[in-house]
Amino acid sequence: MKPFEIKKGIYWVGAIDWNMRNFHGHTYTTKRGTTYNAYLIVDEKIALVDTVYGPFAQELIEKIKAIVPPEKIDYVIANHVETDHSGAMPELMKLCPKAKVYCTQKCKEGLFRYYYGNWDFQIVKTLDKLKLGKRTLSFIEAPMIHWPDSMFTYCAEEELLMPNDAFGQHYATSERFADEVDQCALADEAAKYYANILWPLGSMISRKIEEVVKMNIPINMIAPSHGLIWRKDPLKIVNTYMEWAKNQTQPKIVIAYESMWGATEKMARKMAEGIADSGIDVKVYDVAQSDRTEIIKDMLDAKGFMIGSSTHDNDMLPNMAGFLEFLKGLKPKNRLASAFGSYGWAGGAVASIEKVLKESGIEVSGPSISARFMPDDKELKACYDYGVDFAAKIKA
Ligand code: FEO
Repeated sequence: MKPFEIKKGIYWVGAIDWNMRNFHGHTYTTKRGTTYNAYLIVDEKIALVDTVYGPFAQELIEKIKAIVPPEKIDYVIANHVETDHSGAMPELMKLCPKAKVYCTQKCKEGLFRYYYGNWDFQIVKTLDKLKLGKRTLSFIEAPMIHWPDSMFTYCAEEELLMPNDAFGQHYATSERFADEVDQCALADEAAKYYANILWPLGSMISRKIEEVVKMNIPINMIAPSHGLIWRKDPLKIVNTYMEWAKNQTQPKIVIAYESMWGATEKMARKMAEGIADSGIDVKVYDVAQSDRTEIIKDMLDAKGFMIGSSTHDNDMLPNMAGFLEFLKGLKPKNRLASAFGSYGWAGGAVASIEKVLKESGIEVSGPSISARFMPDDKELKACYDYGVDFAAKIKA
């Protein structure tokens, strides 16, 4: 893939990782792959905004070479230390050792600990400027969006915001602009990205967006570091982020369960019937079989969670324990949850689930519902009614 001119004199020089399936270790499944976006700005001075993941360093360098000799790069802007954006720096900096590296103080600390490079770091703060010639870059610190070191780079003359991870999607495509791809797939990937990476940071995200809005800076393009570039109506994704950041939900319920011999599954299915018959959108997932990244995406706008597990060793089953540990880290707010499950001799799973939900700051709607061994018809009717009742609470 060749470099791609996104604006006159500004080139996408990133890499497409078609085969990335497990991002961040194994915390995020990326069934559509991903991209690592880097942008080369050619002016009187030449600046590179971000690099790419280390295995793609040569692709980045070849793309830069197609435009300018890498030794001509004056500035490397590191918006974020994480290795998917900085991994190519050691190889790149060998070719432009005199380039100044612009980043936040925390990013400098991280870059040094990752690569131990003796680079010429220039520490920037919000609204510091870097003149390239006709264009000037401004920096906006964006701590915790999504790491403490993160920042955005803005070019006023081009009305171009390069916010690194914010507004990204893990979506490998040959197109570069968001308006050129399947809009359902794009929306799906943007939501999945927010839910699995940014969800716990909502209050900081809304504050940062409000801060940028008050700066009154015109934006006609948002070029994130993953996925497609927002060119048509770029503020639409900003508004969507505001809704997510405020934990706005839909009358929708996600049932997530793990079942040892099928009893908890029967309960889940009956509850789902009761919810659906009440006219509330319901999604049902067996966490042992399903992609956690997808379940979390579905939970992003769901008002209600119903969490179930069979009892094993007086506790919930291990896939559910791992799932709830991940959910706890996302700190969902304004949700209502309930616990359910089956047991044989002694229970334990339902109490454990309720404990973790409360520790996660999620309101638990009681009482919970349990069944011994296999639920009979009367108990299944009770599960159906339980779903109806929970749906009514979500409607209210
Ligand atoms: Fe895409 Fe935080 O790295």
